[in-house]
This record gives sequence, C-alpha cells and structure tokens, in this order.
Amino acid sequence: MTKNKIFNKEISGTFSIPSGIVATEVSTLEKIANEIPEIGILTTKSIGLEPREGNREPIIAEYAPFSFINAVGLSNPGAKEFAKRLSKINIPNNKFLLISIFGSDEKEFRKVAETLYDYADGFELNISCPHSDKYGQVIGQDKELVGRIAKSVVSLGKPVFIKISPNLDVKETIRWAIKAGIAGITAINTRGPELYSHDGYPVLSNKKGGVSGKAILELGLKCIKEIRKITNLPIIVCGGIRGAEDVKNYKKVGADFFGIGSALAGMNTEKIKEYFHNLSTDLERGTNNAERFLKEKLNMEYKKYRIDKNERLAEDLFLLTLNNNLETEPGQFIFAWLPEKGEKPFSVLDNEPLTLLIRRRGCFTTELSKLKEGDPLYLRGPYGNPLKVDGKTLLVGGGTGIAALYLFAKRSKETFAVLGANDENHLPYIKEFKSACKELHLATENGEAGYKGLVTDKLEEVIKKTQPEFCINCGPEPMVKTAIQKESKHVNPEKIYSSVDFLTRCGIGLCGSCATSKGFRSCVDGTFLKNNQI
Ligand SMILES: Cc1cc2nc3c(=O)[nH]c(=O)nc-3n(C[C@H](O)[C@H](O)[C@H](O)COP(=O)(O)O)c2cc1C
Repeated sequence: MTKNKIFNKEISGTFSIPSGIVATEVSTLEKIANEIPEIGILTTKSIGLEPREGNREPIIAEYAPFSFINAVGLSNPGAKEFAKRLSKINIPNNKFLLISIFGSDEKEFRKVAETLYDYADGFELNISCPHSDKYGQVIGQDKELVGRIAKSVVSLGKPVFIKISPNLDVKETIRWAIKAGIAGITAINTRGPELYSHDGYPVLSNKKGGVSGKAILELGLKCIKEIRKITNLPIIVCGGIRGAEDVKNYKKVGADFFGIGSALAGMNTEKIKEYFHNLSTDLERGTNNAERFLKEKLNMEYKKYRIDKNERLAEDLFLLTLNNNLETEPGQFIFAWLPEKGEKPFSVLDNEPLTLLIRRRGCFTTELSKLKEGDPLYLRGPYGNPLKVDGKTLLVGGGTGIAALYLFAKRSKETFAVLGANDENHLPYIKEFKSACKELHLATENGEAGYKGLVTDKLEEVIKKTQPEFCINCGPEPMVKTAIQKESKHVNPEKIYSSVDFLTRCGIGLCGSCATSKGFRSCVDGTFLKNNQI
C-alpha cells in the first residue's frame, strides 16, 4: 500500500475524521469531502436499521483538557433515509467513503450494509460504542457474534473494517474478525463506560459515557502496538491525536491512516481546513503548527446561577431573570442545565443581569417554567461567534427569535427593529427595545400590537424608509427565508446575517447536529450566518 492509496483506490490524503464527529450530517460530509484534500477517508456517523433520536442532552462534557466524555446515543436517521441523503450529495472520486454501521446481530448489520451498499467504498462495524445497552461494545464482547457479523457483511464484497473497543480483549476480537475476512481495523473507540459528575450530579443524561481525546492517547498507542503484532491489515487510528507528534508516534507503532476527532472541538469549518493543511505540512517539514489551532478554552464548565424572577408572559412563554451577569457578545448563546432533567441552548436576551426568554415546548422547558426564586440553574457558555456590525442596522425578529436581537440594539448606536409575534403577550421587552432602537415597528398576527400581519409583510417599506446597511434576522426558518428574499432587493447580501433555530446539541461543533443545508455548523460557524451558508 502506498501512502495515499487504500486497497485499489487512490485517495487525496491519509487523514480522516472518526465516526460521529463533525461530519455527521451529509451536508457537512460533502463540504469536507470537497474542501479538505488532506482528508482521504470519510467516515460517516454510525447508522442503524431504524431512525434513532439518541439520548437527550447533555450528550457531551469536557472531561479534562482536550478530552471529552460523550453519550450521543447512536442518533441517526436510519439506513433507508441515510441512503436517500447520500444519493443527493457529491463525493469526489479520490475519497474513500467508509460507512459506519451498527446493529444487534448479523442479520441487522447485513441489512444496514445492503441498504447502503451502493454508496459505500467500505463498511466500518461499530462493535465498540461503550455506553449503549443494546449495541456496540455489548456486541463486541461476544467474539463469536463478532465473527458472524463480520462474515455476513464481508460476504457482500466490499472492504470491511472493524472498530475496536479498547475496553475489551483486543487480540481476541481481531482474531475472530480476521478469520471472517475483514479488510482492515479502525482503533480505538472511546474508553468506558465511565461516569462524569458535576456538583455531585451525573452530567450526561445517559449517566455513563465514553472518553475521547488526549485522555485516551496512551491507551490508543498501546492498542495499535498490540494490533500490529497480530496483523498486517491496514489500520485507521483515532484516539487523542492533536498534532504531528501524535501522528508520528502512531505511525511508529504501525498505523496507516489517522483520524482526528476530539481535537477539532470549537473549530469552525475554516479553522478545520487550516488545521489539516498545517498538520500535513508539519509532517513534511518537521514543524509543529497545527496544534496552534486547538481550542483550549471551550467554556464547557457549568456555572451555578439562581433564579431571581420567573415571569409568565403567556401560557407558553416566560422570562427567567438570573441572579448574576454573563460576559457575552451579541450573537452568542448559552446552554441551561437542570441536573437529571436535561439541557438546552438559549439566546441571551439580556446579560446584565442574565435574562432568558423561553417558550415552553417540551419536558425540559416545562421544568424550567416551574423554577421559583432562589432555585439553582446551571449554565455553560457562551458559544457561537460574536457578530460585530458597524453601521445602520435593521433587526428583524419573530417569536422567541427576538431574544437573540436585543443585545445588538443595546450595544449599537444606530439600530432599527421590526419585531413580530402571534399576539401582544408574545412580544416582550418592548420598552427596552424602544429605548435602545431609533425606530421600532411591531407586528402581531391578531393585530393587538403594531400592524396586523407577519413581521415580513411591511419589511420592504421599513427598509426603504430606514436605508439600513446591515440586516440581522432571527426567527423561524420560513420567516427568515422571506426576510432574506425581501432584504436582498435593497441591501448587499454580504451584509445580511441570519440565525435559524438549528438543532444545537453540544455547542462546540463536535456532534455536528446543527449543520445547515450548506454544511456549516451553526454553533461554531454562526450562529449568525450569511445567506449562502444557510
Ligand atoms: C461526540 C462523539 C460522537 C461519537 N460517535 C461515534 C459513533 O457514532 N460511532 C463510533 O464508532 N464512534 C463514535 N465516536 C468515537 C470516535 O469515532 C473516536 O473513536 C473517538 O472519539 C476517539 O478519537 P478522538 O480521540 O480523536 O476523538 C464518537 C466520539 C465523540 C466524541
């Protein structure tokens, strides 16, 4: 095997991003495939037969510097839907698409592989996820079952990798899999299951999780050494790689391809591109520049606040005022955590004191709605990029999207705003907006406040009158799309920024769930994005 070849396929680079990290949505997979030449192996998130939502948040925590513990819970859209999504993207020919799959027995694994067969260059068998009761490591414990699973997927005729758990007997698992005809090995999956607590409470909703990143580097090196003693098959390594030194050390013990996952925490897409480029040149020239891109300060630690006021504004809307301030910039957001109840992201309506506008949607926000004065609430953050605009700005907000806009009004001199909601009760903080904005236009669907109709109905009129240089939109996707369309007729599209409620679950770009249709991850690339990024 030459440097940039895997089996008979020429690939553009020897790097990969391991399963379940960053490129978990196909839009991100496609973007990375087309924009990062150093990545030659594209590994998908683990796909099962049926759709799975996965665990409720928190799904990830910072375990130690550059190390994480996660229990995402194998969330995936199911094999059929994933095949449909893969059929809509373009992956260049010089990439090896390794589809990670899981199941509970050989029949299930085979069915998933058959469903995804047309798109795969190879399959990676996830028999190593350490925090599931039904899949992953519990399957990997049974060596004969591993053999049967490997054999049934191998017989489909595409190269099969098994992904090794460092928590089981590595040698035995590999022997069974080699007998079954596997083509390669991916190692290692996360260490665990382990428990991680804060203030005496388990952080992950699943309680137990798997450890990744720097904390498992030594374990990874030990595993690869053991694996190399028993086989010459290609090895894709992942486990705590941060820079060129780690890659060299893994190479020394026998790895062929190099997956970097946890080290990408907090990096936006541009930084990931630069990171891989630097890593590659570091290896050629003996430099050590890639590590400069690692983000040490991720704001993952929880801070304990207390509720000062919980004001009910409407049946499904309330305002939480906390007992302290938060240093934050317009455009950023936080996660609120109630131990053993859950965690969700929220915009910062106001930061002095910290104030959150919350709509009751599900069980977690229902729990928040019950909080009383003095009750504790844990927060982590802020996340997302501060958005700085310098010039006349029009803020356009609908529903709870209003919450992301007030800090812009408070911090800038020349802002105008159009805010809309169903009725007057759903339009909070109006007095504050009025005093911070040069002009405020309101819209309600029932006509109780401002004009009767949608926030976008009179948008063009307001734009013509106020002549903004920038527009900042936040609200439900249909509102934002209409706003962009109308604004683009009058304002340079490069100066229109929008934030839509994407499914943000980790805040540091690792889980990839907040990907836009263009492959940007809202939490690290936004949250306010340009039109061509949404
Ligand atoms: C958020 C997150 C999600 C993951 N999801 C999966 C997964 O779905 N399937 C899998 O085989 N491994 C999964 N892993 C494990 C990684 O693929 C990888 O084996 C591990 O993180 C070690 O690499 P690293 O130290 O570079 O992160 C996940 C890891 C993280 C941090």
